[in-house]
Amino acid sequence: MGIKIKIAATAISILVISGCSNKSQPNEEMDHSTMNQEMEEMNHDMMEGHMSHDDVVSLNDSTGENELKIPVALERSNEEGVLYTVRAQKGKTEIFDGIETNTYGYNKSFLGPMLRLKKGETVKIRTINELNENTTFHWHGLEVSGEEDGGPHNILKPGEENVIEFKVTQEAATLWFHPHPEGKTAEQVYNGLAGLIYIEDENSKSLGLPNDYRKNDFPLIFQDKTFDDKKQLNYSATMNDDGTIGDTLLINGTLNPKLTVNKEKVRLRLLNGSNARDYTFKFNTGDSFLQIATDGGFLNEPVTLKEVTLTPSERAEIIVDFSQINTANDLALINEDGSVLLPFEVIDQSGVTSRVPKKLNDFSLTDKEMDLPVTKKVELFGMMDMVTINGKKFNPKRIDFTQKQGVTEVWEIYNRPDMMGGMIHPFHIHGTQFKILSRDGKEPPKNERGWKDSISIKPDEKVKIAIQFKHKGVYMFHCHILEHEDNGMMGQVKVE
Ligand code: C2O
Ligand code: CU
Ligand code: CU
Repeated sequence: MGIKIKIAATAISILVISGCSNKSQPNEEMDHSTMNQEMEEMNHDMMEGHMSHDDVVSLNDSTGENELKIPVALERSNEEGVLYTVRAQKGKTEIFDGIETNTYGYNKSFLGPMLRLKKGETVKIRTINELNENTTFHWHGLEVSGEEDGGPHNILKPGEENVIEFKVTQEAATLWFHPHPEGKTAEQVYNGLAGLIYIEDENSKSLGLPNDYRKNDFPLIFQDKTFDDKKQLNYSATMNDDGTIGDTLLINGTLNPKLTVNKEKVRLRLLNGSNARDYTFKFNTGDSFLQIATDGGFLNEPVTLKEVTLTPSERAEIIVDFSQINTANDLALINEDGSVLLPFEVIDQSGVTSRVPKKLNDFSLTDKEMDLPVTKKVELFGMMDMVTINGKKFNPKRIDFTQKQGVTEVWEIYNRPDMMGGMIHPFHIHGTQFKILSRDGKEPPKNERGWKDSISIKPDEKVKIAIQFKHKGVYMFHCHILEHEDNGMMGQVKVE
């Protein structure tokens, strides 16, 4: 009986706090036992679908039977001044031998190409929607105006196209692009819409880091999926309101991948492109590696790590020295729980000997930034379809914050736990890169002292960031668990 009461109380508080639910609300006429029963059922429902309690299904080990596919670097065209043309399209992809899976992709049937941009250049990109549903082209991490950002207001209907133009104002980084139509982001990304952007600048060229694309510089896009009996992606069947998790890992769309490398230093650009899963990457040998870049640029100096955690949409560039790692046993990148993500085949031929410089960048946190008062507060709360930011769900007609172009402000983001403990929310802001000032009042870890556009925020954690927008427009900020975003865990800041 004691337990029952506790459960009922929990469920009620959740209803009251979040202020929204599609479940029936208890009314006064209801007698207590019915109410308890109903609450218990509801609580049970929520627990079942809720992903925060370490019950996330493990990934199947990669058998390593397929060589990792690497996205093509898209050719520059310059027809009518347009550098790149990107088409969102449907197609069929052979993910499993001899079987065609229905997928979405950019300029191909699944995933997309890599677009290389140079700092300082003016870029025109033509975007074309060849799907039979609305979509947008969002450039995650790119400093562009709200018009070009590709948020839910920049819809392209089936058959429509658009040319965007912007100047590349930010430093070298690994960014990505994906769709963002209201309520449909998760499904479209899940079906395969995701591509890469590499920005280069004078610094990145002069550092002497491995940068031979597909030879010693590899992107790794991690996405977990569930395939049905017919080896199809059936989003509506596997969708979970707390974030869709799968048991099958694809890296760059490759099932059971392995990567062949030379005995040399190799640069891996890790992107968590999953709807909801977090990864903690490490080597099965326990070897360490160097992290050299965050979401938006190089760290000041390489950070030696044995593991790195990425929540959805976060990136990390790492350097692995395959000439130093013990490859006697099967070497692989594994996840926290030991599942094999990417086995390596190290060929016994030494490649280029590159050095990793001690100084990579001059990113700084100024005293002035540290001393700024908090001017915006963001409270993340809830789970399943009851997720909110500052108690509200997304409303495209409502502007939640305004900020002046070029003015640095401090935002404080708090992840308010619920009665069941709460869950990590990866928080992302469009159109800019920001700096982490503190996590719960403490200095951020060394590998987060660089430009970020997405940050993992644990239950009850408070993170302060310094943020400035170089351009004007309306930008989204949201949880990057894509189902949370689609369920309304998103707000808008208007920069003017
Ligand atoms: Cu990856 Cu709203 O974006
Ligand atoms: Cu974004
Ligand atoms: Cu979330």
